[in-house]
Amino acid sequence: MTCDSDPALFNDKINRRTLIAAAAIAPALIATGVSGANAQAATGTAKVALVTGSSRGIGAAVAKRLAREGFSVTVNCVVNRDLAAAVVAEIETAGGKAVWEQADVSDPAAVRRLFDVTERAFGGVDVVVSNAGIMRLAPFATMSDEDFDRMIAVNVKGSFNVLREAARHVRDGGRIIALSSSITQLRSPTYGPYAASKAAQEMYANVMAKELQGRMISVNAVAPGLVNTTLFTDGKTTEQIEGFAQRTPHKRLAEPSDIADVISTLCSSDGGWVNGQTVFANGGIV
Ligand SMILES: NC(=O)c1ccc[n+]([C@@H]2O[C@H](COP(=O)([O-])OP(=O)(O)OC[C@H]3O[C@@H](n4cnc5c(N)ncnc54)[C@H](OP(=O)(O)O)[C@@H]3O)[C@@H](O)[C@H]2O)c1
Repeated sequence: MTCDSDPALFNDKINRRTLIAAAAIAPALIATGVSGANAQAATGTAKVALVTGSSRGIGAAVAKRLAREGFSVTVNCVVNRDLAAAVVAEIETAGGKAVWEQADVSDPAAVRRLFDVTERAFGGVDVVVSNAGIMRLAPFATMSDEDFDRMIAVNVKGSFNVLREAARHVRDGGRIIALSSSITQLRSPTYGPYAASKAAQEMYANVMAKELQGRMISVNAVAPGLVNTTLFTDGKTTEQIEGFAQRTPHKRLAEPSDIADVISTLCSSDGGWVNGQTVFANGGIV
């Protein structure tokens, strides 16, 4: 489903769906004595997650995983609308609830619209995963202004745009997660500006966790290592990718679902006491 639908029909359909979802989820959560973000559902409001950059890769795995955990999910893309719609269709086929919205996170107005769409669709937001990101690699000597500026616009400004709205909109007891990278520790040649843009996420999470004190909202950065997505594999030969895999203790790249497992745990009632941290999810490569 997309917000391109007739707004009146859309709202009506969503309101009914949200009520049905809340009715379905609340008894189960009350029975298991959940707390934190999940407590929202226990009091009658379905849990809601917004995942930026979730048309593919890690974001898509996170969106599907959170939907399996009972969240209504907003899926986001910047160009691949078909992929975003496919993620929503997969969630709905599995019995979950989702909408998708195109929004370039580097545009503050588009990000405000993304939160608007989520609140109109599901009545609020409990979890925000600031995942949308791009990677441009080059040594300092040859990095172009265009690549540097776009990476900063999406990774640093874009994630700021998302986190600012998250601070304004996430309900008490919620979770906010920003995607860093283990490259902040590995610090390999050609990764300078990208690593700097990811280090920003770790600072954002730590400072924001303190700013949101008293609201039981936990804010963390998650720093994956080498993950099998096009962001990592594009431009590399099969031999190069295998070489990277062999450098990890587990002798393989992470799959997006490995990272979704970690993020899902942080978003669960079990994850609430991890706050203001960077969680390195890299299979031990650092
Ligand atoms: N893969 C890794 O090895 C790895 C390791 C550490 C950290 N990370 C981080 O994890 C996050 C996800 O990476 P990934 O590997 O899953 O990347 P990916 O497969 O390239 O997917 C990127 C996602 O972000 C979306 N996106 C890109 N620019 C956007 C923008 N301006 N506004 C909104 N959405 C945008 C893309 O949408 P479209 O489909 O519309 O283009 C897509 O959904 C990134 O922040 C990355 O830095 C990745």
